[in-house]
Amino acid sequence: MDFYITTPIYYVNDKPHIGHAYTTIVADVLARWRASQGEHVTFSTGVDENSQKTVDAAKKAGEGIRAYTDRMADTWEAAWATLGISNTDFIRTTEERHLDVVRDIWNRIDAAGDLYKGTYEGLYCKGHEAFMKESDLVDGLCPEHKTAPEVVREENYFFKLSEYQDKLLAFYDAHEDFVVPANRFKEVRAFVAQGLEDVSFSREGKEWGIPVPNDPHQAIYVWADALVNYITVVGLEGWDEHPADVHTVGKDILRFHAVIWPAMLMSAGLPLPGQIAANGFITNAGVKMSKSLGNGVDPLDLAARYGVDAMRYFLLREIQYGEDGDYSEEKMKTRYNADLANGLGNFAARVLTLAAKEDATGTVKADDLDPEFHRTIMEAGRTVGEKMASFRISEALAAIGELVSFGDRYVNEKKVWEIKDDAARGEALRNLVLLLEAVGTLLVPFMPNTSRKIAAAIVWEDGILHAKKSEVLFPRIS
Ligand code: MSP
Repeated sequence: MDFYITTPIYYVNDKPHIGHAYTTIVADVLARWRASQGEHVTFSTGVDENSQKTVDAAKKAGEGIRAYTDRMADTWEAAWATLGISNTDFIRTTEERHLDVVRDIWNRIDAAGDLYKGTYEGLYCKGHEAFMKESDLVDGLCPEHKTAPEVVREENYFFKLSEYQDKLLAFYDAHEDFVVPANRFKEVRAFVAQGLEDVSFSREGKEWGIPVPNDPHQAIYVWADALVNYITVVGLEGWDEHPADVHTVGKDILRFHAVIWPAMLMSAGLPLPGQIAANGFITNAGVKMSKSLGNGVDPLDLAARYGVDAMRYFLLREIQYGEDGDYSEEKMKTRYNADLANGLGNFAARVLTLAAKEDATGTVKADDLDPEFHRTIMEAGRTVGEKMASFRISEALAAIGELVSFGDRYVNEKKVWEIKDDAARGEALRNLVLLLEAVGTLLVPFMPNTSRKIAAAIVWEDGILHAKKSEVLFPRIS
């Protein structure tokens, strides 16, 4: 079976913060989860370069636009590599392969009769790369970007989004999990139900961007270009055969993905993606983390101080998928010490230290597992599967955490270190080692490095354990 998952492609006007990292890490966990179930995974991420923001940022940096985008694309790609993201492709919207597909899609939409030229007058927010309504503004400024939108009056191509209202509603009705979480789907449906306006799909006289076929004075609207990246990655035929199963996005760009994108695909005669999964915002002391506000926390810095897996753990466990979540150093430290240093890390160290002592005697054998341990592990595995299928990632991790607590209680209740009888001690340790092994396996999608370390410390040879005391997984941080 094949599974195709995507992240949004990120604007290159700044480097990533943990809000972007969160969306990417969620996609990574889902990708690794599917791979661990034996599926062949295509997982794409990349950068959205054809935005006016790119032009402004390059000017500000005193660089040529190309040189700037090359440098920033490298910055994003390297950041994901450092964070161990398992993407199979990294797409840039200035690549030739993308330009070809964008032109194809434009031509298909045009051939369907869904593009027309008209005059647009409106307020364009560069930060959003979208027109805004007067009523969206606060004191004349975009409330998110705190900038005054540009007054635009120009000839544009329009996409007949208004024609797709009924088709979209019928599609939503037939696909009740199309948008998760469900409350966001309700919002999308209500938005479409109130009526849709046509969307301006090109901008006049822009020197940066993909030219409209046969009308080079117009550049294709950056969102119409960016959304198509999901097709570029697998090719037009590839998409036709197997469109994306999941687009992970943030709630700020849900309408583009759940309304405009499906309408574009319908118009182009192409199949629709399986699901759009929208995460909430990460806030910093209550304020949305964003490039424009400059309150972003650097994921590379966090990973350098706590470790990649600990950062992943924090974001995935602390935030209920779909809801907003607040980051603070205090919260990070508290979770780290409680769940990782004292929880998982301490449990692994206890089990492996006790088991390593047995190596020479060969007391710990991989016989049948105690039925209660077996039941508990199987149940945790099932719970993780169910939670992952419904994007309840934090609860999946909590279920793994309960396995660790179960093991800890067993060590304490049995006082394993005091058991004198070799066979009895061997049996208790076998239970614990197999439990730790199961924890390591379940953690594969969430904490791949930790998982590898646990696996490396447990070696069975001819059914006899050779446990190694592993390095301290999560040193306490004060
Ligand atoms: N380029 C567009 C997306 C095009 S996809 C065809 C864009 N880029 S972005 O860089 O501004 O943001 C992309 C995504 O980053 C958001 O949708 C969201 O998933 C994530 N986040 C950005 N800030 C975030 C937070 N503060 N919190 C959580 N996610 C955040 O929009």
